[in-house]
Amino acid sequence: SQIKQVEFVKSSGKAKDCPKNGLPEFAILGRSNVGKSSLINTLVRKKEVALTSKKPGKTQLINHFLVNKSWYIVDLPGYGFANAPESARNDWSSFTKGYFLNRDGLVAVLLLVDASTPPRKIDLDCANWLGRNNIPMTFVFTKCDKSKGNKGNRPEENIKDFQQLIRENYRTPPPWIMTSSVTGLGRDELLLHMSQLRNY
Ligand code: GTP
Ligand code: MG
Repeated sequence: SQIKQVEFVKSSGKAKDCPKNGLPEFAILGRSNVGKSSLINTLVRKKEVALTSKKPGKTQLINHFLVNKSWYIVDLPGYGFANAPESARNDWSSFTKGYFLNRDGLVAVLLLVDASTPPRKIDLDCANWLGRNNIPMTFVFTKCDKSKGNKGNRPEENIKDFQQLIRENYRTPPPWIMTSSVTGLGRDELLLHMSQLRNY
């Protein structure tokens, strides 16, 4: 399940401009600043394959990364960027929804959820939208390193609360994995999980 090679392929502004060779792919989705680009860099063990930033809204396009010449990781713009103008928010939903509903090679969405804060409605809404559209997903909890010493950061409790809210809407809740881009927690588990989904 290890990553031997990764190359950036292209950035697309529209779903129809994405690569067309039908290889399996995983989309990395989540709120702006949740750690999508950082997770990709952790998975591939490179510092700046995907560009990260302290400011939300860094990733603006659909970015395809080809792994081991056989499957894609896709970095998407984050949702819920509080300062974005309404036009940008509408843009987000039309172009990413277009992507999700029309992407043949999509194996699963990795929906990233910040474990260092209590559950947010926007993440639950997103999960429920994917569920209603029968798009397979895995919850990837990020920033699980942010715990002790930091008041208010209780990853285990936040995750438990999130799962409880999800259980109200799903007969079979999606799989989930705890990660940290700082400590590498969950990296191997997530890679193994992705290889199992690809070979399914
Ligand atoms: P957009 O592209 O704006 O949607 O953001 P993104 O989801 O790609 O987030 P990005 O990876 O750029 O990370 C945002 C900030 O969170 C950066 O300052 C990262 O260093 C920090 N960060 C990301 N992952 C972790 C993590 O696992 N632990 C901690 N402590 N910080 C993290
Ligand atoms: Mg990003």
